[in-house]
Amino acid sequence: MKVTAIIGSNRKESYNLKLVKYMQKRYADKLEIEIALINDVEMFSADIEENPPKGAMDFKMKVSEAEAVLFAVPEYNFSIPGALKNAIDWMSRSGHDLKDKPTFIVGSSMGVLGSVRAQMHLREIISNPTLQPKLLPNNEVYIGAIHTKLNEQNEITDEGTVAFLDSVVGNFVEFYNKVK
Ligand code: FNR
Repeated sequence: MKVTAIIGSNRKESYNLKLVKYMQKRYADKLEIEIALINDVEMFSADIEENPPKGAMDFKMKVSEAEAVLFAVPEYNFSIPGALKNAIDWMSRSGHDLKDKPTFIVGSSMGVLGSVRAQMHLREIISNPTLQPKLLPNNEVYIGAIHTKLNEQNEITDEGTVAFLDSVVGNFVEFYNKVK
């Protein structure tokens, strides 16, 4: 299955990007993950929504052409980063890129809560009818203290975290086959 992974951070050394790169390798037999960065998505304005500029258009295409979507979400000020909200606003207009796409969410942070507050907001935001993917229920992946769980090769070293990720990916594949 072709999965577009939306990285919710625009930071070069993003832990959420590293997490997805790890998932890309570990689950290569199940998921063909393509990374969609939000770094070059222009600021949304309703004035330009009919003719999205290149960065926004490329991003929208990566999502609309995917068979499934993965969000990797950091937490900024108890919510999702503004740059991710901007990318979501683009997806909600002309094309409704996310609509009905089988989707799941992971997230990590250096604190103990593992981006839980951001993910709660994300679930609420994408429940808007203009976005509304087919979201994998339950399976909430909050990876706290991520900086202590990655080695120099950016592999997750925490066995419990890896086992949980394995089960979530297995659940998503099952869910995808049911709802696609
Ligand atoms: C943060 N960070 C943060 N962490 C958290 O657990 N709760 C929060 O509310 C915030 N708020 C926040 C605001 C801003 C502006 C920054 C820059 C950072 C810490 C943040 O989650 C941490 O830096 C993550 O590592 C960011 O994700 P990436 O870039 O590593 O994927």
